Amino acid sequence: MRVCDIIVKKRNGSELSTEEINFFVKGITNESIPDYQISALLMAIYFKGMNEKETSDLTLAMVKSGDIVDLSGIRGVKVDKHSTGGVGDKTTLVVAPVAAACGLKVAKMSGRGLGHTGGTVDKLEAFEGLKTYISRQDFFDIVNKTGIALIGQSGNLAPADKRLYAIRDVTGTVESIPLIASSIMSKKIASGADCIVLDVKVGSGAFMKTKESAEELAKAMIKIGDAAGKKCDAVISDMDIPLGISIGNSLEVIEAIDVLSGEGPDDLKQECVLLAGKMLSLAGIGS
Ligand code: URA
Repeated sequence: MRVCDIIVKKRNGSELSTEEINFFVKGITNESIPDYQISALLMAIYFKGMNEKETSDLTLAMVKSGDIVDLSGIRGVKVDKHSTGGVGDKTTLVVAPVAAACGLKVAKMSGRGLGHTGGTVDKLEAFEGLKTYISRQDFFDIVNKTGIALIGQSGNLAPADKRLYAIRDVTGTVESIPLIASSIMSKKIASGADCIVLDVKVGSGAFMKTKESAEELAKAMIKIGDAAGKKCDAVISDMDIPLGISIGNSLEVIEAIDVLSGEGPDDLKQECVLLAGKMLSLAGIGS
């Protein structure tokens, strides 16, 4: 198999086979394919798209490119939540403890900021001295004891996505639905939760600028999750203006604590209730 033939095939708008996608992802991971050929294929995917099967194949190949976290050492239903990225989005800091207080297990690996969007791990580091990287056993022990732990993503989770994302970032190929869906879902599936709630942001501050494209992205991610045997649901939420009134890591932590104390801005409160409710209903607790 030659990478060049795969690039030409996609450039001409044809469907890539499972074998071709696996070959490509293997080459990304073991670094046998150079950046320029990866860039060319990414641009071809950006323009010609990928169908459901190709998107699912790409995701599963990226899941298998690294560690797959086995959460069976944690008792109960493990629920995860993911935002496609926004400004002032501190919902994880609210909904994760709420879900845990209602009996779910939240063993969550969070990311750092991406482009103009903030990351939960950066916000958590506003607590001086807080460790966001701990051993897997400590992670399991804390979740079993308290119902919740939020940590930074392990170095070897979907490494193919890591390389692909870095190249997308500098080649104008970020805003592609199959590429975003496979990137997010590869990390979520590899993180091992049973249920995943997706918060798809739409608007001028989001990667998806229109409601139609946000819905398309949400559906693509849910289908990938279904194919991988995960229970998934999504909400589409507004990102034309920042969520809440605070932006900046420590300010956002303070606002999240306000909401957990029954205060805080209404838009943030409402979105947190919606997301926590979805996490509970997906896990079979309440409607
Ligand atoms: N978040 C990701 O992890 N990947 C994308 O492609 C976009 C947002």
